[in-house]
Amino acid sequence: ATPGSGAGPLLGFKSVALSTADTVTVPEGYTVQVIAPWGDPVGMSGENAAFKDDASNSAAQQATQFGMHHDGIHYFAQEGSKVGLLAMNHEYVDHGLLFPDGAANWSLEKVRKSQAAHGVSICEVQEKSGKWEVVTPSPWARRITATTPTLVSGPAAGHALMKTAADPQGRSVLGTLNNCASGITPWGTYLTSEENFINYFSGGDTLSAHEKRWGLKKGGSGYRWHEFDARFDATKNPNEPNRFGWIVEIDPNNPSSTPVKRTAMGRGAHEGATVAVTRDNRAVVYMGEDARFEYIYKFVSRDAIKPGGAAANVTLLDHGTLYVAQFNADGKGRWIALTHGEGPLIAANGFADQGEVLIKARQASDLLGATKMDRPEWIAVDKQGWVYTTLTNNSNRGGANQPAVDAANPRANNTQGHIIRWKEDGDFSGQTFAWNHFVMAGDPSLPRAEAKGNIKGDMFSCPDGLWVDGRGVLWIQCDMSTSAMGKGDLKNFGNNMMLAADVNTGEVRRFLVGPAGCEVTGVTTTPDGKTMFVNIQHPGEPANELTDPKNPRAVSNWPEKKANGRPRSATVVIRKGDGGVVGT
Ligand code: FEO
Ligand code: CA
Ligand code: CA
Ligand code: CA
Repeated sequence: ATPGSGAGPLLGFKSVALSTADTVTVPEGYTVQVIAPWGDPVGMSGENAAFKDDASNSAAQQATQFGMHHDGIHYFAQEGSKVGLLAMNHEYVDHGLLFPDGAANWSLEKVRKSQAAHGVSICEVQEKSGKWEVVTPSPWARRITATTPTLVSGPAAGHALMKTAADPQGRSVLGTLNNCASGITPWGTYLTSEENFINYFSGGDTLSAHEKRWGLKKGGSGYRWHEFDARFDATKNPNEPNRFGWIVEIDPNNPSSTPVKRTAMGRGAHEGATVAVTRDNRAVVYMGEDARFEYIYKFVSRDAIKPGGAAANVTLLDHGTLYVAQFNADGKGRWIALTHGEGPLIAANGFADQGEVLIKARQASDLLGATKMDRPEWIAVDKQGWVYTTLTNNSNRGGANQPAVDAANPRANNTQGHIIRWKEDGDFSGQTFAWNHFVMAGDPSLPRAEAKGNIKGDMFSCPDGLWVDGRGVLWIQCDMSTSAMGKGDLKNFGNNMMLAADVNTGEVRRFLVGPAGCEVTGVTTTPDGKTMFVNIQHPGEPANELTDPKNPRAVSNWPEKKANGRPRSATVVIRKGDGGVVGT
């Protein structure tokens, strides 16, 4: 039976107060345990280099340890709710924390360590007497980093725009990076997305229209990889940025498998990839692109999911139709296909073939008249078939020379963010839908009408992570930027947090507050619902910014709380003391 079904209300815990403390706060009766912090070994055989408190581990050691800045996560059961694999993303790094001397004395070794701290970790975890531990060594433990070989599949594989000197076939890319939200498939694989990939590349003095549309800048955005790794210098390798921004499929149960970039689902600053299944058993993948005024996409597979797990579905995500969303003022919306040869997506407009449509998905969506959204982040589907997307914030909305408010994005200077939801007409493959706003985030005590929100319950701002658990609870995770936190419209919220929502009543109740300077992102549970894993990202920001290595330990030394200890992103394990289902 569904855990907790028929037993009391959906939300059974006592809400947690706002907090600025450098700790993880959970409801009365719940316990918190920290596992898998940045720098601990993931458990690869013979690779047991321990974390060094001064961050002096080498690049080679980092490639065997958990990466930095944990994000999307999923528990793949092996022995039910006792033993499983955790797959998790490591979105980015702070060089001020990653090295003893920060970004000083920049070198190829530092670039390699920075690259090794990105990507995905897969580890085995097990529960013993109520405590969870990472199993070391484990045959499943592996790291996928910004230099791990990956394959390219789908219509853009082998495209002229995907070819480089190092890969003249355009079918093999080193690495995945800026892996943000995650998804899973019904056939047992993990989907990781490549979000703000363009920040890793440096462009030239003059940029093409394509480079400008994707935000390429001369000098990049602080990662400085291009100074020692010409792959990230787009003046030398102009097609290399086209090889990032994809959804990447990984089979955690097959440690020797090669990750695959699935180009049929389009290119974007992808936040995540959430899979729903149609009545005729096709896969529908929902994806947001977390950037101001970008779009919401869905991919509908051509073929039905076959029985037989990952091995039987190795090309399922290579064939299908990509759509972009248009939200109309009457509460209806439609999906517009990104199909070469249809409407404006023709050679005369710069789209030679379907591969080019997918590589230039933003330009295609511009021409198709899709709705420019307030930074669509995670997507979740509830038990009634409503599809929810967090629109985290967009302070540019309605500003001078910026897109005006619209029905779906109705607040100018949207500092607080909101959650939109829609229900497809017919099935998840539907061409049209009906939509409404699930909640507008905000603080009712603020004077500015557009910052108050309409939350039924505990206040929050900047929703980002979103996940529906086995009982149908909608979990909401917050990412107020640390540069805006504690002032202006965000002055009263304290640290970032996680809340639970009852989608039937609209009630929102605060479940967890994270440590100082962190973002709360990524959540999964064991099948019995009794153990929840939540990722705590970048505790201690902003003192650990890339550009500010002066005092990386000023704001937080979570989780170890050592004097002068570095803050470390980590996974927290949350259990109910009475052994019950989390959230009841
Ligand atoms: Fe990586 Fe959109 O947060
Ligand atoms: Ca996010
Ligand atoms: Ca965010
Ligand atoms: Ca983040």
